[in-house]
Amino acid sequence: MNRTSAVVSRIELLGDPKNLWYLNRASGLVLLVLLTVVIVFGVMTSRKAAGGKLPRFVSNEVHRFLAFAAVAFLGLHVTTAVLDDFVQIDWWNVVIPWGSGWKPLWIAFGAVAVDLLVVVVITSLLRDRIPERQWRALHLTVFLMWPIAWIHALGAGTDAKNPIYLVISVLCAITVAAAAAYRWFKPAPTPIPVQSTTRRQTVDPGSR
Ligand code: HEM
Repeated sequence: MNRTSAVVSRIELLGDPKNLWYLNRASGLVLLVLLTVVIVFGVMTSRKAAGGKLPRFVSNEVHRFLAFAAVAFLGLHVTTAVLDDFVQIDWWNVVIPWGSGWKPLWIAFGAVAVDLLVVVVITSLLRDRIPERQWRALHLTVFLMWPIAWIHALGAGTDAKNPIYLVISVLCAITVAAAAAYRWFKPAPTPIPVQSTTRRQTVDPGSR
C-alpha cells in the first residue's frame, strides 16, 4: 500500500483526520492522570498509607490494574501521534529521543519517558527473577519518568495553555511531589516475623 492510500484508509477508519489529533491529546491527558494515580497507589502499597482502611492487597491490585491501563493509553497516544500526518513523527521517535520532524526536543522528552516506563513495566513483569534491591531501584525511576513526561506534555501539548489543562497538570504535579515526599520521609513498615514449621522467615510489607 502506498503512502497516499494508507492515509486514505486511515481517514476512512477514523472519519475526520483531526480525530487522530483529538485522540492523541485526550489519551495524553488521561495517561498523565493515570500515571499520577498509579504512583499514589504504589506509594500507598509500599508505605501502608491507607491508614488501615484499605487493605494492602486492594491498593496493590488497583496499582497494577491502573498501570496496565496506562500502558494501553500510552499505546494509543504514541500510535495516534505516529499515524497523524499533520505531525512528522516516525515509529522510532517513540523510543529514540532524537530526530522527530515535529517539536524534536519535546518529543525527545516523551521518548525518554517511554524508555523509562518500558524498563519499569518489563522489570515488574520479571520481578520474581530480579533481586529485591535492584528491582526497587529500577521501579523508583518512575519518579524520574513522571517529571520528564510532564515536561514533554507541557512543551508538545496544544492544550498546555488551556487553563483547565494547566490546573489538571499542576494538580498532578503536586500530587506526585507529595507522594514522593511521603515515600521518602515515611519509614518503611517494620518487617513482620512469620513463623514457619521449617524455618523462621520475615516478610517485608513494604517490599512492593
Ligand atoms: C510516558 C510518556 C508520555 C506521556 C505521559 C505523554 C503525555 C502527553 C500529554 C499529557 C500531552 C498533552 C496533550 C494535550 O495537549 O492535551 C502530550 C502531547 C503530545 N504527545 Fe505525548 N506523552 C508521552 C510520550 C509521547 C511520545 C513518545 C510521543 C511521540 C512519539 C508523544 C507524542 C505527543 C504529541 C504529538 C503531542 C502533542 C499533541 C497536541 O498536538 O496537542 N508523546 N503527551
